[in-house]
Amino acid sequence: MILSTNLLFLSLACARLAFASLTSCSCSAAALSEALLGNSELLSVRFVPAGGSFGEGTANIPFPTNPTNLPANCAIIVNVTTSPVSSFRFGLFLPTTTWNERFLTVGNGGFSGGINWLDMGSGLQTREDFGFRAIHETAVITKEIIKRFYNAPPKFSYYSGCSMGGRQGLKDAQKFPEDFDGMLIGAPAWWLKRFSPWITKLGISNLPIDAPNRIPLQLLSTIGAEVTRQCDGVDGVVDGIVSAPDECNFDLSPLLCGYSSFSECFTNEQAQTAKEFYNDYMVKGKLMFPGLELSSEEQWALLFSGEEPNPLGSDYIKYFLLNDPDWRYQDYTDDIILLADRLDPGQNTADSYDMSDFRNQGSKIIMYHGMSDGVIPSRSSNIFYEKVAATMGGAGSLSNWFRFFLVPGLQHCVGTAVGAPWYVAGPNQAGVVGTDIFSVPGFSDPKHDVMLALMEWVEDGTAVDSLVATAWIEPLNTTSGVKRQRPICSFPARAVWDQTGDVNSANSWLCR
Ligand SMILES: *[C@@H]1O[C@H](CO)[C@@H](O)[C@H](O)[C@H]1NC(C)=O
Ligand SMILES: *[C@@H]1O[C@H](CO)[C@@H](O)[C@H](O)[C@H]1NC(C)=O
Repeated sequence: MILSTNLLFLSLACARLAFASLTSCSCSAAALSEALLGNSELLSVRFVPAGGSFGEGTANIPFPTNPTNLPANCAIIVNVTTSPVSSFRFGLFLPTTTWNERFLTVGNGGFSGGINWLDMGSGLQTREDFGFRAIHETAVITKEIIKRFYNAPPKFSYYSGCSMGGRQGLKDAQKFPEDFDGMLIGAPAWWLKRFSPWITKLGISNLPIDAPNRIPLQLLSTIGAEVTRQCDGVDGVVDGIVSAPDECNFDLSPLLCGYSSFSECFTNEQAQTAKEFYNDYMVKGKLMFPGLELSSEEQWALLFSGEEPNPLGSDYIKYFLLNDPDWRYQDYTDDIILLADRLDPGQNTADSYDMSDFRNQGSKIIMYHGMSDGVIPSRSSNIFYEKVAATMGGAGSLSNWFRFFLVPGLQHCVGTAVGAPWYVAGPNQAGVVGTDIFSVPGFSDPKHDVMLALMEWVEDGTAVDSLVATAWIEPLNTTSGVKRQRPICSFPARAVWDQTGDVNSANSWLCR
């Protein structure tokens, strides 16, 4: 009886909605279940009216913030059983009034096992499970659901993810090149088997908390300010932004106790720890992982804020590599990174550098990385780019399908400590400036919005030579007025000031 009451209600709702859209009628478990493959099950189906909100709130631990002011859509959650002992969930917004025939998948961050509703909200407007299976199967099942819901497959399929989401994307491009036509990859943790041991070792270099070599949190802004003082002008413009950290020969000695003019100073032991953060991680003369870039200091707090190294490293070692929850970071040795390198448990690492299948079908990648990233060093993305270039016939041959952008002053995926233009509406970015912010407010076009730029490249063939990044007067307030805009340039070009115009205006800069 209750069931039939519900059905009656649904069909009435359907009839009413039919004026606005034919497709809203299908926002029901009965209609959508037919589209699911045998290993998947609908957990929830809900019609979200225009201006509404959807998500799971704090029950979704990694993504507790729900997007607001959504266009009308059918929001669904699907559970996929991948083996007798594993399953994953994904969420989907199916717009019900107008659909632009595009499909967008967004990635996660960290080891977060949750649905990233907030980035999905942004996309609605513009348009082994962890290792690779979840993203791929999500794409396959979703395409089936789309066909059912709209009676047509998506014309174009897109991916957008930063950090672990960047890794998920690159891995998918290598393993299932047919999944996506365009992929937006931010600060990827692509070299996970090296990254996780590296971040553990780095955390350990600053532990335990009473060690004489420990850099306390309040010294981070001190060293950050000195890096800016020494390195800002190296790129030719004194604007508080270190745009060429690789060309700066930083000398820590002005900060040493006895010499320092700051109220805080570094002991020799603390200075040694700082050097470890910048230095490449070498084992027996071989590069294991690149060090952090000059200007990343403000974010080092994320590497060692507690009494343990960042769990991005130690959880990987415990649960992926050694299968030993009792493993203690004090037992770390170089053998850990060598073992991880050999095993790559879960096939997490995106190191199949021959991406010809992806290129040959005409698909495109835009990858970017903040040069002030204090979690994943930007140079790891340079290494990825170089390895793909070396495998596929040199850097010159990449530009027709793979473009890479370094963003001066951008921290990990979002934000800046120095007022640098950083916002391009990339993955995770809209979410930090507001739950109802989509694209670049006031500049919603392919010059400023990286997803629109990617769509223009994929759909019209207009390659992306540069993008204009934005910073606001109040850093996270998009109505407080534009503070600065500046192009970021397709690697290896850099933004160069024209020597005459306003340095805060994008028109005064060229990519060279
Ligand atoms: C998903 O399905 C698996 C069984 O295949 C089950 O163990 C798991 O609890 C389900 N997850 C949810 C959230 O329902
Ligand atoms: C953002 O800036 C505008 C314009 O200055 C101001 O009216 C508004 O209160 C600010 N919003 C927040 C949340 O501070």
